Amino acid sequence: MNQLPTLLVTGASGHLGRRVVELLLQKKTAKVVAVTRHPEKLKDIRDPLLTVKHGNFDVPDALVEAFRGADRLLLVSTDALGRRAQQHREAIDAANVAGVQHLVYLSLASADRTVVALSEEHDQTEKLIHASPLSYTILRNHFYADNLLMTLPPGLARGKIYSTTGTMGAAFVTREDCARVAAAVLASRERGKKTFEVTGPKAVTYPEIARFLTQYFKRPIDFDEVGMVELKQTLNRDGFPSGLADILVSCDLAIGRGEFNATTSVVKDWTGTMPMNVAEFLARNLKL
Ligand SMILES: NC(=O)c1ccc[n+]([C@@H]2O[C@H](COP(=O)([O-])OP(=O)(O)OC[C@H]3O[C@@H](n4cnc5c(N)ncnc54)[C@H](OP(=O)(O)O)[C@@H]3O)[C@@H](O)[C@H]2O)c1
Repeated sequence: MNQLPTLLVTGASGHLGRRVVELLLQKKTAKVVAVTRHPEKLKDIRDPLLTVKHGNFDVPDALVEAFRGADRLLLVSTDALGRRAQQHREAIDAANVAGVQHLVYLSLASADRTVVALSEEHDQTEKLIHASPLSYTILRNHFYADNLLMTLPPGLARGKIYSTTGTMGAAFVTREDCARVAAAVLASRERGKKTFEVTGPKAVTYPEIARFLTQYFKRPIDFDEVGMVELKQTLNRDGFPSGLADILVSCDLAIGRGEFNATTSVVKDWTGTMPMNVAEFLARNLKL
């Protein structure tokens, strides 16, 4: 057992972090260290290969100790918008001091050029990683298909969805596929300095999503192309807070510019199976 590598996952009680921990433990090929602000949330996972440690990027002094002994580390980007670049800087510095050999970072597609409102901190983090002496893999996840479970229900209820994306689509990828890629990269011996765009199998447009929903739920779900101002007003009426509505409008704008249209074979290359398509994901997870 002492010969097994040690793989560390930060943010291990979040949706994605926890799933990566589970996938790594299923492989049984490494010792797994789960670092989280909430160790109690992982109490239900009992595995002799798992060690759970407390770690919070806002308390940097304790991070080196939490990371010490890890060979490879997955840095799950945090949800603390506005503070993330600084938090990630602390984690990267600590990984370096702790002697981590390879860092995997979960970024956002086209982080260095997209108009998506929350991309800047991903871009800053990528630059910090480039400037560090660490060997790294940056996984630029496209929009999670899971986001649609939050944005589509009001449109389903009213029988009409809106977007500003024109004829452009987005290669939505499921969070599960992102977790599978992250686990595979972490468990591999990959070294060097690489960046991959992690996408679903095909770019999907909102009119296509409306047609699928119509077929699947057997009642008409229309689609309307609107401008940015109207989309924001609709999101506000649908109950999305202003800040989140701004982010969602910027996501539509980015899709309309073709920033999320391209697909890659990264999921298949790293996991051996094709990524799940949006229709199958929605059929499994979207309830009326
Ligand atoms: N591509 C996309 O469409 C998309 C969509 C949503 C999110 N994301 C990004 O992907 C990340 C993971 O997604 P998710 O669905 O798993 O989100 P989530 O369940 O909301 O998890 C948030 C994550 O942030 C971590 N975190 C927050 N504050 C932290 C701190 N001070 N120190 C260390 N970690 C901290 C949490 O770790 P603990 O609570 O365990 O400490 C947790 O892993 C998100 O945080 C976000 O950056 C991308």
